[in-house]
Amino acid sequence: MKVWTVANQKGGVGKTTTTVSLGGLLAQRGKRVLMVDTDPHASLSYYFGIDAEALSHSVYDIFVHSSEMSADTVMDCLCPTKLDNLYVLPATMALATLDRTMGSEQGMGLVLKKALAKVEREFDVVIIDCPPVLGVLMVNALAACNKVIVPTQTEYLALKGLDRMIRTMEIMGRSLKKAFDTVIIPTMFDKRTNAALESRKRLMSDYGDRVWHGVIPVDTHFRDASQVQLPISAAYPRTRGVTAYAKLLQELEK
Ligand SMILES: Nc1ncnc2c1ncn2[C@@H]1O[C@H](COP(=O)(O)OP(=O)(O)OP(=O)(O)O)[C@@H](O)[C@H]1O
Ligand SMILES: [Mg+2]
Repeated sequence: MKVWTVANQKGGVGKTTTTVSLGGLLAQRGKRVLMVDTDPHASLSYYFGIDAEALSHSVYDIFVHSSEMSADTVMDCLCPTKLDNLYVLPATMALATLDRTMGSEQGMGLVLKKALAKVEREFDVVIIDCPPVLGVLMVNALAACNKVIVPTQTEYLALKGLDRMIRTMEIMGRSLKKAFDTVIIPTMFDKRTNAALESRKRLMSDYGDRVWHGVIPVDTHFRDASQVQLPISAAYPRTRGVTAYAKLLQELEK
């Protein structure tokens, strides 16, 4: 089972869109995919029409029952989507309290990793969507994965956020004794603007081969797809957004 974490401490850079787009493509190719929503704002859950506040089970349960967790505890929390093979482990607002209630407890950083190990045989790929803040949830998501995908909007301010994210991973990598396999992806790329071209150039020069050589272009179909609760590849298969994420997937699967 592959576990990919989509993270960036900067908000609105395309984390949830990347999670859904990659998840959709993989599921349509017959892979069994679990998308984990660790953002208390629950954008990923709402994307698929899951009302986070009306749920009886969510990823929060996994943290609360971390000591007596079984495969059933995890499977009971899953929600299907309109696509076969594509599941969501939804978030709730209550996740926002985790840092205060459990942040300092011993072993709290490995709860998600242990939970995913219980369902290892059920899925081919797990994609974890992170909130844009460093806290116990992002720490769990980073500890659980074999690859970190860092969407970065191609504009000046977003590059600052990226510096922070890369530093966070260095610190976490030292304490977890692991080197993150990191892929930075330029998102919302508008080739007509100078800002986009310049910031992509800077990305390449600052982060070298950690930067994916392709780009995710601006495409309004992403928003349209969210309105019909489908990944873009299922709603609008012949769009440049889909082509771009399919190329990225090829790279990630190498
Ligand atoms: N390539 C793109 N082209 C056009 N719009 C996009 C693109 N990627 C994302 N968007 C839109 O930008 C908005 C923010 O994207 P998204 O929710 O994926 O970011 P995020 O990093 O998950 O945000 P947050 O930090 O709040 O969780 C959404 O409305 C989404 O539809
Ligand atoms: Mg998001």
